[in-house]
Amino acid sequence: MKDFIFKMPRKIEVGFSKSRDLSKIIKEMKLNKVLIVVDYNLKKMGIVDYIFNNLKKANISFTVFNNIKNEPTITEIDQAINDLNIVSNFDGVVGIGGGSTIDVAKLLAVSGSIKGSIRDYLGINLIKESSVPTIMIPTTSGTGAEVTPNAIVKDPVEGWKKGVVSSFLIPDLVILDPELTLSLPAKVTAETGIDAFTHAIECFIGKKSNTMSDLFALSSVRLISKNLLQAVKDGSNKEARYNMTLASFYGGVAITNSGTGGVHALAYPLGGKYGMSHGLSNSILLADVMEFNIEAVPEKFVKIAEVMGIKSDGFSEKQIAKEALNKIKEVISNSGVNLSRYKFSHKDLEYLARSAVEETRLLNNNPRPITYLDALRIYKKSLNV
Ligand SMILES: [Fe+2]
Repeated sequence: MKDFIFKMPRKIEVGFSKSRDLSKIIKEMKLNKVLIVVDYNLKKMGIVDYIFNNLKKANISFTVFNNIKNEPTITEIDQAINDLNIVSNFDGVVGIGGGSTIDVAKLLAVSGSIKGSIRDYLGINLIKESSVPTIMIPTTSGTGAEVTPNAIVKDPVEGWKKGVVSSFLIPDLVILDPELTLSLPAKVTAETGIDAFTHAIECFIGKKSNTMSDLFALSSVRLISKNLLQAVKDGSNKEARYNMTLASFYGGVAITNSGTGGVHALAYPLGGKYGMSHGLSNSILLADVMEFNIEAVPEKFVKIAEVMGIKSDGFSEKQIAKEALNKIKEVISNSGVNLSRYKFSHKDLEYLARSAVEETRLLNNNPRPITYLDALRIYKKSLNV
């Protein structure tokens, strides 16, 4: 009977081709001049040109911003805030893309309350108000950025990634259009899908979880265990894409109301050090961190087993939890995430473990404390060095 607060976007529109209704939604929100932050490659390849054409037809005044190519750096965000002068020039921000693009859109939409550099707002609740309303349209199924109060930025000199966390970053309106994910390559589908899987599992076992965040986290685990493989094997499978779009969003709702933990804490330094995608770094660590966590919350792994369709009659809690772990491993390996191009080195272990234990925001939510030595052992096992 825990007290909790539950947060999510004000409105969510779900369905194939829903992104074609953007102009109608913008008009309903009474926005007159919007900034559209779009993924660099999506714009270059013309994939979302139909959205721009629809806006022109509806006489909506808009400016497209697609200057940030990869993970946004502090310098790039500061520059964009300075150049765009959001509060004077726009009354709404739309984000169309993967997690990085949506994070940029979220930060630009609160830029009226940022004085100086975004560097001074890294951490929790330092942004105190929103500036303009936001509409987010994710084009991958993984990050859940369209729901979360987080925006991840990179320090261009040090190489680390840190989060700006504030309720004012939670978008106002979300359009979930699975059609946008139909052309995602298998590799991206697998890596982003495992990221969503990690969100769902970590949020469910997290110390900050509550009965409402659990509904979303477990639904996400169920949907991913049933649909990820199909979406990877056959990207045109509409039902699998629809379910993965929902699963990713549910994972994001779980992050907003619970939070991730040890896998993400260990994945960030790994991704930074070896330049690998966030989903890939999660996929390396997920099973081993969960094996470490089982003894703290075995009953939660029984629930995870249940939603993944594992028969539990006649088995002990310990056996069922072990089966849940085996199924998690199976989902990861069947998804086809590929690590063959990475060579991990034993000499990096201490740096990685030192960096991971600094991720206190995430580690505090992990059901079992992770010390420096624990992190070292987990990395050693996961990286096989
Ligand atoms: Fe993640």
